[in-house]
Amino acid sequence: MTEADLGGSAAISADRLAEIGLRYEMDGEIATITLNRPEKRNAQTFATWAGLAAIGENLPEGIRVVVIRGEGPSFSAGLDLAMLGAPPGGDDGARTDGLTLASAATLDDATLERRIAEAQRGFLWLRRPEIVSIAAVQGHAIGAGFQLALACDMRVLADDAKLCMKEPALGLVPDLTGTKPLVDIVGVSRAIELCLTARTVDAAEAARLGLAERVVPRAELDKAVADLAAAVLATDRGAAIATKRLLQGAPGRTLEEQAAAERREQVTRLRTLFAALGSG
Ligand code: CAA
Repeated sequence: MTEADLGGSAAISADRLAEIGLRYEMDGEIATITLNRPEKRNAQTFATWAGLAAIGENLPEGIRVVVIRGEGPSFSAGLDLAMLGAPPGGDDGARTDGLTLASAATLDDATLERRIAEAQRGFLWLRRPEIVSIAAVQGHAIGAGFQLALACDMRVLADDAKLCMKEPALGLVPDLTGTKPLVDIVGVSRAIELCLTARTVDAAEAARLGLAERVVPRAELDKAVADLAAAVLATDRGAAIATKRLLQGAPGRTLEEQAAAERREQVTRLRTLFAALGSG
């Protein structure tokens, strides 16, 4: 696996990523993004989200699988608590861009919503049909950490994983794109129960609720993720993209609409497959 700079329109260097506590590596068709502030339990800031967005914008076309993992005992302890109150320019000023939630609250509505939208950009690209995203979660995934795991297509949990949507307990709402996948997976009632009690879900319960595709012993997490990535890569790329697009659209369509979407995707698949055979 090689650490890499990312070129493109919004290029970001490995050094800048390191500064904000991220590492980006490539191994063939797999990109691995590591939250790399273990001494702060991979707490996240506006800079983290900008870094994630820049990685998404510059992702090489050949990448088919994106793995998100965290260094150290926890996947991510969520929002950097420095953003809740430390004065701008304090210890974590560089990472928080000097922006605390208190200073953000003084912005006008449109500007503040734009800042939140910028943060959300770090998460939304993980759903692109062209890639399959996998979160490798050990230890705590709290608040923004849980939402980052939810932003991925699949979650592989170590048996010590602990998920918690803590935002409402802090007077906030989960706003990093986590509420929709949470409701899609567990339903509205369970999502209300989890968010409004801010209770912790362990790995076994996460598996029962459908929040984890696999639960494995802590020591086997990396291998389980690598095996899952390899299985995904064994599938034809065009079919994988079309199928993910189809599945993602299913909850918003009626049965008839979904059947029509299947037909449209299959027409393209058949033409592509037989054009390839014809030219062979
Ligand atoms: N922000 C900044 N620093 C954090 C942090 C966070 N969210 N979580 C942990 N740290 C720091 C600790 O301050 C400590 O630093 P020092 O060594 O300098 O004192 C270091 O990481 C290790 O922390 P612990 O000793 O507490 O480690 P632990 O392994 O015993 O516990 C933990 C880990 C359960 C995650 C615990 O640290 C914790 O509860 N952290 C706070 C979690 C939290 O409330 N996050 C906010 C979620 S809400 C959110 O994310 C809002 C949003 O998106 C809008």
